[in-house]
Amino acid sequence: MITNKIEKEIEIVLNELEMPLEGVAVTISNRKDLCDYQFDGVFKLAKLYHKNPMEIGSQIVEKLKNNQDYQKVEILPPGFINFTLSDSCINNELNNMLQNEKYNIKMPAKETIVIDYGGPNIAKPLHVGHLRSAIVGEAIKRMLKYMGHNVISDVHLGDYGLQIGQVIYGLQQENISLQDITLEDLERIYPQMSKLCKEDENVKTICATITKDLQDGNEEYQTYFKVIKELSQSDIKRIYDYLDVSFDLWNGESDAYPYITKVTEELEAKHLLKDSEGAKIVEVSKDSDSKEIPPLIYQKSNGAYLYGTTDLGTIKQRSIDYQPDRILYVTDRRQALHFESVFRVCNLLGYKEKFEHLGFGTVNGPDGKPFKTRAGNTPKLEELFEETKQTFLNSSEKNQGMNESDLDILVNAIIKFADLQNNREKDYIFDIKKFSQTTGKTGPYILYTYLRVNKILTQENKQSETLNKIIYNKEDRDLRLKIIELESALKYAVDTRLPSLLANYLYELCVNINAFYEKNHINNLDDVNKKENWLILLALSNNIIKDMLDLLSIKIPERM
Ligand code: ARG
Repeated sequence: MITNKIEKEIEIVLNELEMPLEGVAVTISNRKDLCDYQFDGVFKLAKLYHKNPMEIGSQIVEKLKNNQDYQKVEILPPGFINFTLSDSCINNELNNMLQNEKYNIKMPAKETIVIDYGGPNIAKPLHVGHLRSAIVGEAIKRMLKYMGHNVISDVHLGDYGLQIGQVIYGLQQENISLQDITLEDLERIYPQMSKLCKEDENVKTICATITKDLQDGNEEYQTYFKVIKELSQSDIKRIYDYLDVSFDLWNGESDAYPYITKVTEELEAKHLLKDSEGAKIVEVSKDSDSKEIPPLIYQKSNGAYLYGTTDLGTIKQRSIDYQPDRILYVTDRRQALHFESVFRVCNLLGYKEKFEHLGFGTVNGPDGKPFKTRAGNTPKLEELFEETKQTFLNSSEKNQGMNESDLDILVNAIIKFADLQNNREKDYIFDIKKFSQTTGKTGPYILYTYLRVNKILTQENKQSETLNKIIYNKEDRDLRLKIIELESALKYAVDTRLPSLLANYLYELCVNINAFYEKNHINNLDDVNKKENWLILLALSNNIIKDMLDLLSIKIPERM
């Protein structure tokens, strides 16, 4: 990575100058008109060694300016050091990317990581929030795998909550026998019963009792549960298949139950379970808390377990089955407090795993309110896919000639890139029309760029995989510089679990490719050397697009 290389060179110089500094950090320049990379640690040095920043900066520059890696190193007031890379440095870096596996990216120490995302609730319709968890989670999973980690993905179905009791009660009320239950029944009954429970305390108690009896192993309810789960799960699978989202484990809350006794024993051994009005709770607040963290409710007074309990049981299960170093959860950020208290209980129990809750914001419509379809409903995901497809078809006549499988790929690309380009922690506005365009920061734009370059690559033949030392013009140089930023972009995205950093890199890369393409006409070039070099460069760019799109789980259509 270029930043590391420059950092090492600065460290050596600082040692020679007898002004060592910890954490020398070089960043990619945000003023590309001035330089490629920059170092602003001079101010720290000035404080540390009581000297004038410009003076220190000049000393550093003096020692670096004959270095072959730089075309220019300069100090700008009040004390920024700017680096402009030499052509040979850029091309060496590119050749390393070409000749080594995975673009010569340095891989971190390998960890075993469980990632919990998707999290749909059976018998309830999947909504846009679950879509976001699936898209963001899938991208994080693929990025971690790419970096060499041993990653285990779990969909963690919500399959043992009150909704099951409600649906069983509804089915019984309607006298629908087991073998006749359909998905439509579930879709109809759940909203009815959920409404009824809000209106009628009695019904709510009955449904809660059914749920509790089910959890305790009641045979009749267990048979219902199996049928409901199977129907619902196959529907959920169909949607995830469409989205190219897949899981190693299809476990759910119900699978955690056998492990809850173990957790209870551990909590009791450490005297962590307290009685509170008949319920059992675990206190998790700390003196240092700036806001109040409520206790985790472990067991209700009727004996039923809750969301936190099943999460603790699941952690126990994962720890026995996989001994993970780390467990990640991708859910709506409004669950932050829930996870904070679960993680605190794990700390109290002395668990060794590292835990991370990766929260995300809300998907809003163009009106800034939670996203709705044209019909004004909270959309079923299928309706959202269909609406996206129609919008894309209508956005240009050309699109209407596309085949069905390419269209599905485009729907995926539109929805996923719309989501992934946004910092996951923030809300964003899903504007189908805008995200369906082939211009701007959209999935179709990236795909279009790839296909355009791919066309040249299939028409022309290149002989080698090594670039010479020449860079031909500004657009060429800008593209090369962007390509060598890949490692920082990907690493940063992985470390912060923010796929948006990768999505935005990909967009910037495509902007550079298109600028290069507009300026440099490869097809009719007489200069064979130049042509060869540019073909190598474009092939490298397109490989990066393809691989990084795959990390975002976006496929490439045959044609568009
Ligand atoms: N089913 C939950 C929901 O719909 C999400 C589950 C997230 N995973 C977990 N281990 N709690 O909100």
